This record gives sequence, structure tokens and C-alpha cells, in this order.
Amino acid sequence: MIFMKGVILAGGLGTRLRPLTEVTNKHLLPVFDQPMIVHPLNTLKQIGITDICIVTGGEYMADFMRFLGSGAKFGVRLTYKIQDGPLGIAHALLQAEDFFGKEKVVAILGDNIFEKVEVPKEAFEDEYAYVFLKKVSHPERFGVAVFDDKGNIVEIEEKPKIPKSNFVVTGLYIYPNDVFDFIKTLKPSQRGELEITDVNNWYLKQGRLKAIKLEGYWSDAGTFSSWLKANILRASLVNPQILNHVNLKELIEDLF
Ligand code: TTP
Repeated sequence: MIFMKGVILAGGLGTRLRPLTEVTNKHLLPVFDQPMIVHPLNTLKQIGITDICIVTGGEYMADFMRFLGSGAKFGVRLTYKIQDGPLGIAHALLQAEDFFGKEKVVAILGDNIFEKVEVPKEAFEDEYAYVFLKKVSHPERFGVAVFDDKGNIVEIEEKPKIPKSNFVVTGLYIYPNDVFDFIKTLKPSQRGELEITDVNNWYLKQGRLKAIKLEGYWSDAGTFSSWLKANILRASLVNPQILNHVNLKELIEDLF
């Protein structure tokens, strides 16, 4: 049995969900039956990770601690780290460097809702980075996978105007421990953030990135439309009847 650690990245401003995020952190808003952050926490548990670090901004740390506590009531052990300002997903990950020590790194975005994730056993030990792809109808606001003729991933394009595929990089990442050294060399992008897509492309260029296509539903919950979708998908897991309504399947396909 390999004991892995994982981090939930729950910083950022959540501007696209204003005014809901004016006095509350996005990840404490409900997604159907639970505050949003419980879903990525359960995804980490589902892949066997119970030693978990929460990264969020200092202004909301007390709220997270009040709700999650030591993690005991969720069957996990929690560590908390502050991200001083919304400087990007890669910057949030860097705050967990000490937590991981020399171990492999599993990171999940706090606003990502997965039905189920299968992680190959070797991913916990080998020297590869892993991303998990999902086919979506509206890839434009994500990191989009570009494939060659043989179906190998050759690049990830961040928020392309004209996406070259419908496969997007979801918010679950596995990295070798040298990810932290690389993040320290990154310069902020035009939007002032350390970009996780730069990290993924760095591994890709070295032939050290594996891309796995996900089964089961996935959604982020960072826009009103995707938040609604996440709520419906989660509700359908609790009550499968929901998806039997006329045209609701088509509606979900079209929500993003
Ligand atoms: P985003 O949705 O890209 O950013 P955001 O949450 O600030 O929202 P908005 O764009 O509407 O202002 O972030 C995706 C996830 O990454 C989110 O769950 C929180 C996490 N994140 C951090 O932990 N730190 C950060 O600095 C950023 C930008 C995001």
C-alpha cells in the first residue's frame, strides 16, 4: 500500500460567481448536498488519499477550518497553507511544497466535481506527470489538448479561441516532486498568474506527461452555468431519476 498525499487548491477570487463570492469563498458554496470543497476532498479519498493539504487565501482560512476542522469527521487528516493573493494555480500549488517533502504530488482544484477517477497504480511512484482529459462541448475556457495524427497529445493550449480538439485538461494533476523547482522558474502570464498549463507543457516537452481520458461525468463549478451543471450532475448521482426528465440530458450537454 502506497501512502500518497494530496492538495486541494481553494484560493482565487471567484469573480465569475459574484455576488455569491463577495462574502464567502467559492469553495464553501453548495454543490447540491455539500459545500463545494467536500467533492474534491471525496475524490482524493476515492483514489486512496487521506493526508490532505488545503491551500486558500488568508481571509477565508478561518471559515475552512471551522467547517473542516482536523478532517476527522470526513475520515482524513488536514493541513492548511495560506496563499497570499490569487497568483495562479501553479502558485497555489507551490504553497504545499513543504507538505509534500520529497514525495510525488497530487493536486486537485477545489471547484472540480468528478464522478469517479481511475488512477493507474504506477502514477503514484513513477517519474511521469499525469493529466486527466474530458471531452466537452465548449472547450474554449479550458486548457485544450492538441493531438497528432496518431492520437498522441503534443501540446496543451490555454483558452484557445479556436480549439483544436474537444478534450480539456481537468483539475486533477499528478506530478513528480521536481514540479516545485520548475514552478519557481515560472514568470507570471499576461493575466499575472503562474499558469498550470505552462507546468503541463514543460512535462509534455520532455516526454514526461501522460494523458488519461476520464470516464464518468466531470464539471468545474466556477461560472453560474457550470455551477448549475455541477449541481445537476451531483444531484443525478444521489438520485439517478433526475436524468430521466425529457430533454434534461441535452440540456446538460449544452451547459458549460
Ligand atoms: P479559477 O476559476 O481560474 O479562478 P478563480 O477561482 O479565482 O475564479 P474567477 O476566475 O471567477 O475569479 O481557479 C480555478 C481553481 O483554482 C479554483 O478552484 C481555485 C484555484 N485557484 C487557487 O487556488 N489559487 C489561485 O490563485 C487561482 C487563480 C485559482
